[in-house]
Amino acid sequence: MSTVLYEVKGNIAILTISREKALNALNSEVLNDLDAALDAVDVNAIRALIITGAGKKSFVAGADIGEMSTLTPEEGEAFGKKGNDVFRKIETFPIPVIAAVNGFALGGGNEICMSCDIRICSDNAIFGQPEAGLGITPGFGGTQRLARIIAPGLAKEIIYSTKNIDAAKAKEVGLVNEVYTQDELLPAAEKLANKIAKNAPIAVRACKKAINEGLDLPMDEAIVLEEKLFGSCFKTHDQIEGMDAFLTKRKEKNFIN
Ligand code: CAA
Repeated sequence: MSTVLYEVKGNIAILTISREKALNALNSEVLNDLDAALDAVDVNAIRALIITGAGKKSFVAGADIGEMSTLTPEEGEAFGKKGNDVFRKIETFPIPVIAAVNGFALGGGNEICMSCDIRICSDNAIFGQPEAGLGITPGFGGTQRLARIIAPGLAKEIIYSTKNIDAAKAKEVGLVNEVYTQDELLPAAEKLANKIAKNAPIAVRACKKAINEGLDLPMDEAIVLEEKLFGSCFKTHDQIEGMDAFLTKRKEKNFIN
């Protein structure tokens, strides 16, 4: 049985990491199942993806400490690559990915949510990178993404001191966009996913590519990337439909791709 559940709701989908007895900790099996679940998403039909954790206590409590405890340096590096490959797949996934963080997001849990486009959380969420207290560095991108998302000085404090931050602080520092009650979290994630899904899919995908790839480029190259993606939207069905709807004052739009 897969440790990752997949549910389609119209043109949005939800991936639930489901290993509740270990607070959804990421062992190799979960990483493999997540990788396979991502490959199975029909990105031509699904327009936004939500990732959450099973239960009300934990999103993901990190990489599996039991599995890591006996690794050699070579195996540790390979385990890091395994997680990084899956998380990079999420980060570069063609459609937007929303993390609905429903509790602990520690170590690999914080790292997986940082590979998503948008993070929202419940009021019991706790974020942190406890690795230095386990004698390791963050291994699934934490040293790289945290300092790019929040202030580098605060990222360093969190990583070196292993202090956790709560939902309110995560919102204050821009790690999450919004905080909801536990019951409101998934409906809010679905509402946001549906709002994204209403817009032209080809344009939304191009926006994601422009933002993500542009952030790694000098501004002069980044704006050229935008110009190319902007240009690629013209004469698509959705550009013609979207502009026609505006010009003819029509509310309903039929975006297809
Ligand atoms: N790996 C393996 N098992 C884990 C786990 C993890 N990361 N986190 C929790 N579990 C297991 C516990 O061992 C426990 O199992 P048993 O019932 O069999 O004993 C079960 O989940 C419930 O956990 P607790 O009893 O500890 O629950 P709690 O409410 O007392 O504490 C917690 C919750 C604060 C999240 C605590 O479980 C904890 O500190 N977990 C570890 C968090 C952590 O250090 N994560 C980083 C891992 S390293 C990493 O992620 C490296 C990387 O970057 C790739």
